[in-house]
Amino acid sequence: MSSVQVEASVQNCTAITPETLATENWSSKRRDFLRMLGYGAGAAALGPLMTACGGANGQTAAEQLRAELVRDTAFWKNVDGMFVLNPAKYFMNIGTAGSMPQPTLDTFAADNLAKARDSLNGYSNFADLRKKLAPTFGVDYDELAISANTSSGMCHAILGLDWQPGDVVVTTNHEHGGGLTPLNIAVARYGIEVSMIPMPTGNNQTAATYTNLFDERVRQLKAQGKRVRAMMWSSPTYKTGTLLPMAELMGVVKAHGLISIVDGAHLPGMMQYDYGALGMDFMSGAGHKWQCGPGSTGFLIIRNKVRSSNPLPLPKWFPVHTSSYNAAALANRANAFYDVAASVTSCGSVHTPMFNALVKSCEVWDGIGRAKIQTYVTTMSAYLKEKIVERWGINSLYSPKDDPKLTCALTCFNPFRNPADVMDSKKSSDFVARMASDYTPSFIIRNVNFPVIGAAADHYGIRISTHLWTNADEIDALVDAMWTLSGKMA
Ligand SMILES: Cc1ncc(COP(=O)(O)O)c(C=O)c1O
Repeated sequence: MSSVQVEASVQNCTAITPETLATENWSSKRRDFLRMLGYGAGAAALGPLMTACGGANGQTAAEQLRAELVRDTAFWKNVDGMFVLNPAKYFMNIGTAGSMPQPTLDTFAADNLAKARDSLNGYSNFADLRKKLAPTFGVDYDELAISANTSSGMCHAILGLDWQPGDVVVTTNHEHGGGLTPLNIAVARYGIEVSMIPMPTGNNQTAATYTNLFDERVRQLKAQGKRVRAMMWSSPTYKTGTLLPMAELMGVVKAHGLISIVDGAHLPGMMQYDYGALGMDFMSGAGHKWQCGPGSTGFLIIRNKVRSSNPLPLPKWFPVHTSSYNAAALANRANAFYDVAASVTSCGSVHTPMFNALVKSCEVWDGIGRAKIQTYVTTMSAYLKEKIVERWGINSLYSPKDDPKLTCALTCFNPFRNPADVMDSKKSSDFVARMASDYTPSFIIRNVNFPVIGAAADHYGIRISTHLWTNADEIDALVDAMWTLSGKMA
């Protein structure tokens, strides 16, 4: 849609519908799809993909997963049609940046124009928008803040807590700077201590591995007389794409009476979770990654009610970046309603079109079905992992493969024929660069470094994100291209 068309829609005060979009070149399926997303009536009911389970009918696990992925090809092709992604590239680094679909771009453009035309301000705590978003995440609107991004949410969460000198936070050695930076500030400013658990890698791990690792670490620290106050972890880590099991880790949190802080940068738009039922104190996620909202958007979930999912008292917490503060009401928030999420969302005048566009992306996701998206993107990753194992062997995987509680839509592995080459940072970066430069369309993937238990140096694994515009043929092409390139680089 051109800017002229957007302007015409705003001037005439008409809702944007398939008729106001330049749809003449679109297939009828694409038009039907847009209608289903709220541009018209009649949302279609779509059956979910079957979950992955290899081995039936004499098929390999990869063949069975592929059959499941292609079952709904027409539907996913229509989903793909909503995105304006450059066709010269296969975008498989969504863990770093998503891409706004057309309905979001339209909302953003129309609202930008409306804001400019009427000199609108952005002083609000956006309770109306938060009320729309909250049910999707299983919380109430007073528990769902719109933040600037994951890092901003982690700063709000961590730097708002009433840390005391000697408080210990248990975390892992695969965390992102988005969480580590505020943690390091709290170390310097309040004298807290951070205890890091070395992360396992590869397929030889289960959800119970994490329950044991965290529980044992907390017990050891307590036995040393330490005051463990909180657990912080990423679900999933951005390094190996290991989905630390939230329900299981919440069991450890509750057993030890701890504050729970989840870096869930990749969760919104990838995985469907009911955060009220999980009960963590804080979950910070991105709006601009898998959720494909505008840049500078994120979600911060703040537990604001004592529910059976987490009967622990609400932690003492203060807003640190806000235009909304009522000391008495905040202190009494466990007993009387206080919109704690407003204090994160509201800070001076913000860019309302961005927030509206984020809500539009969420509506698009809800229209497709979040469970359906989760099944598709994780099945795609499962398929990729099976194909990697067929070519490179199971030991090449840094991501887990077989425990569904640990897997998501991020896949990380060692592509090198000589496995030790993965410790060569330049070689790993060259691999990423050549996947882009040596192929048409080019493959956009990334590498990421992390410590591996027992290894002399960091490994620079290759990380691939499989989102809803990727299909099984593209995974086949990716695996062939990576295999050929790793042969050339051997
Ligand atoms: C686990 C994790 N946490 C935090 C971040 C930072 O995200 P944002 O740019 O939304 O602040 C990232 C970014 O990739 C991430 O992967």
